Amino acid sequence: MDSNAPSTPHHAREQIAKHISVESSPGNGLSSYLSQLTSNPFFTAGFGLAALATAARIGQKSIQHGAALLRRRMLVDLEITRHDEAYPWVLQWMTAFHRAQIAGTQLATGPAPDAKTGLLSSLVSRFNPRLHHLQVQTFRSPSGPATDTHFALVPGHGQHILRYGGALILVNRQREKAFDMTKGEPFETITMTTLYAYRNVFEDIFAEAHQLARQMEEGKTVIYNSMGPDWQQFGEPKRKRPLDSVVLERGVKERIVEDVRAFVASRTWYLDRGIPYRRGYLLYGPPGTGKSSFIQALAGHLDFNIAILNVSQRGLTDDRLNHLLTKIPPRTIVLLEDADAAFVNRREPGADGYSGATVTFSGLLNALDGVASAEERIIFLTTNHVERLDEALIRPGRVDMTIRLGEATEYQIDQLWDRFYAELDVGGEAKKRFMSKVRELRLANAVSTAALQGLFLYNKDDAEGAVSMVHSLTTGHIHDRHVETPGHVDGV
Ligand SMILES: Nc1ncnc2c1ncn2[C@@H]1O[C@H](COP(=O)(O)OP(=O)(O)OP(=O)(O)O)[C@@H](O)[C@H]1O
Ligand SMILES: [Mg+2]
Repeated sequence: MDSNAPSTPHHAREQIAKHISVESSPGNGLSSYLSQLTSNPFFTAGFGLAALATAARIGQKSIQHGAALLRRRMLVDLEITRHDEAYPWVLQWMTAFHRAQIAGTQLATGPAPDAKTGLLSSLVSRFNPRLHHLQVQTFRSPSGPATDTHFALVPGHGQHILRYGGALILVNRQREKAFDMTKGEPFETITMTTLYAYRNVFEDIFAEAHQLARQMEEGKTVIYNSMGPDWQQFGEPKRKRPLDSVVLERGVKERIVEDVRAFVASRTWYLDRGIPYRRGYLLYGPPGTGKSSFIQALAGHLDFNIAILNVSQRGLTDDRLNHLLTKIPPRTIVLLEDADAAFVNRREPGADGYSGATVTFSGLLNALDGVASAEERIIFLTTNHVERLDEALIRPGRVDMTIRLGEATEYQIDQLWDRFYAELDVGGEAKKRFMSKVRELRLANAVSTAALQGLFLYNKDDAEGAVSMVHSLTTGHIHDRHVETPGHVDGV
């Protein structure tokens, strides 16, 4: 036991009294001042509030810093802008991925099941997020009937959460306020955010999105149109047109296909000799002889896409055209239809008074010559009036091969018959009668393939009908001005 300790209650009271008197003695200024302050309820309340506010501010700041640090350390962002080729792929992928998720299946290209079985991944795997804002994308087939429309529901603007394998990904599709003046579209970005630990999923997602885009284009021909300074996919990829669906005179198709093939295979030959690696073809002939159809089929056959060049497009200048032709998408045929008409009425203002920037003829010539591009450049021109084309446009180097597709020859009529009636007319008996009528009426080299196709379509599944109606083809072209092609027969 401590010997100095107060031993009696009396002693203890004395000590306390002494202590109090020392504390409150006038000699000790600071502590009295403080005690006065602290005994002031207003001051304590104010001081307390200020301290609280400071603490809160510090707390908030540190939370913000902490969050930023956490974000920097633990999260990873990936941004895709609308200009990037991957932009539509990613949207398409999200749609397909989400659809598969709802259906409880996996994308054909989907992620491998997650091997990790930690608490986080098992929690995440229970979470099945859904897309809540969708946007509709409508496609019209460029050459199909007006009713040929497709829809796709793609993720709309705003935030979405996706679960990919074991990772949760926050996807933010944002529309910027700024406008892309050249296209009249707002800028857009997609930002994907996930935990740093899962940063590798991005590569997988992009690989999948790319594969999906490729799958969708497989067996299809993509059509591009020039939109401002860029080529833009026009509608959905079209099913490839089989080459043998286009019936040309014997050997013509083969000659062109062979020429294009040889050209594509001789890249180094051209480059070694310093010759611009490009080749131009001109298809001319009357309407409905298969010019456009053949180019489409050829592109499909060689696994090329088609970029339709519209030189009379509003706002397209010589410079822009030049620029466009130096950045043609890979494996793409450039197509300039109705080359003779491209410059007609060029200087006349349109109905709305617009006579602004357009491509000049020399601008087109220069663009066709252009700087040597590393990729092959194949250009097809078509026209109904070859005589109207300027010599300069079709001189060698711009146009290397000129092919006339004329009215249907006997060989073509025979072939086209087979395409329609080979199964119905197995012995070829109806064909014989049809062909003898054709000779009698001297239709060979006089009707277009399109008119013939019209007759066969009208008599679909009816070879005898075609034989009995063959005379109707004559009215369409020889003497009569009243065109009565099958399919447009009056009163039907
Ligand atoms: N040689 C052909 N073989 C098969 N189908 C043909 C042929 N020629 C024309 N057709 C058919 O006729 C229609 C019109 O053909 P296409 O558009 O290719 O003609 P075009 O020569 O480009 O005509 P235009 O000069 O008017 O542009 C298409 O439906 C096409 O299938
Ligand atoms: Mg055409």
